[in-house]
Amino acid sequence: MNNALMFGNGKGGVGKTSLAANVAGLAAHAGWRVLAVDLDPQGNLGSDLGYKQDGLGDEGEGLLQAIVAGRPISPITNVRPRLDAIAAGRSTTDVWAVVNNRRSVDAEAIGDLATVLDPLSRAYDLVVIDSPPAGGVAVDAALAASRWLVIPVKFDDGSIDGLELMARQFGAAKSTVNPALELLGVALFDFSTAGTAIRREVRTQLTADLGGIAPVLKSVIRRAERAAYDMRRTGLLAHEYQAKAVESNQRVSIAERIRLSRAGQAAPQYSSAADGLAEDYAKLATELLLSLGDLHSRVGR
Ligand SMILES: Nc1ncnc2c1ncn2[C@@H]1O[C@H](COP(=O)(O)OP(=O)(O)O)[C@@H](O)[C@H]1O
Ligand SMILES: [Mg+2]
Repeated sequence: MNNALMFGNGKGGVGKTSLAANVAGLAAHAGWRVLAVDLDPQGNLGSDLGYKQDGLGDEGEGLLQAIVAGRPISPITNVRPRLDAIAAGRSTTDVWAVVNNRRSVDAEAIGDLATVLDPLSRAYDLVVIDSPPAGGVAVDAALAASRWLVIPVKFDDGSIDGLELMARQFGAAKSTVNPALELLGVALFDFSTAGTAIRREVRTQLTADLGGIAPVLKSVIRRAERAAYDMRRTGLLAHEYQAKAVESNQRVSIAERIRLSRAGQAAPQYSSAADGLAEDYAKLATELLLSLGDLHSRVGR
């Protein structure tokens, strides 16, 4: 699919789902028609976008029927204005079992995912793919179906989990099934260093360590555990959470908060990191969407 952006890293807990949800949401907010595709049986994308809390989603059954029986897929529509979604869940495990079995007979079967999603993808400007942490067939299938890859990493004590393995898997996909695939860059997630000078140093060092396989994106996502926890629980994206925080602070004075809390009716509390986190996602999405815009015009979509 020449409009599909995948967030991938065989390692779990590095920010794939958070980035996929927020970039999809911000692109739709900016006026793009977006399809978000969840390929992880855990289905966390549904929590981040809130359709899971609303009881929507088919646990991946639609995608399974498309792969097995060639049925057309109907995404959940209007998860946000201009944003539709294909859900994942229990049945997604069967999707990968089917693709895996087929691939053991015919290596080309790794392209089945792209074949079933391609007709649907044409109705959108951008398809955002959230991929599962297991490094095997699912990630290969997502790589075969995508045009661009972003590798999120958590930067802990200089270790960059999963990055090398993912870069190798990318290289293998590009040299075989999907020559059009491009690695847009590495996104630093859950970044705990606030100082700009140190940030710059870390990026320079990491870029050098990567030896030219991929650029490190300029924008990083800061550590904000409380906000992230609240967002996933309530199905709010960072910019939506920030808007609620502003609204709630405007309405409730400290005195009123104390009164409410004494009465056992505490007003909702929003993390003070809401502003910074929303800003990080906005910057990162802008950086990515601008480079996609360039690539879109280069490939003459
Ligand atoms: N800015 C953040 N700071 C700290 N923790 C975060 C942040 N954003 C998300 N998290 C938490 O990190 C965990 C992993 O994020 P997730 O996006 O699910 O990664 P993956 O999809 O790669 O497994 C989740 O528990 C999430 O709540
Ligand atoms: Mg995930």
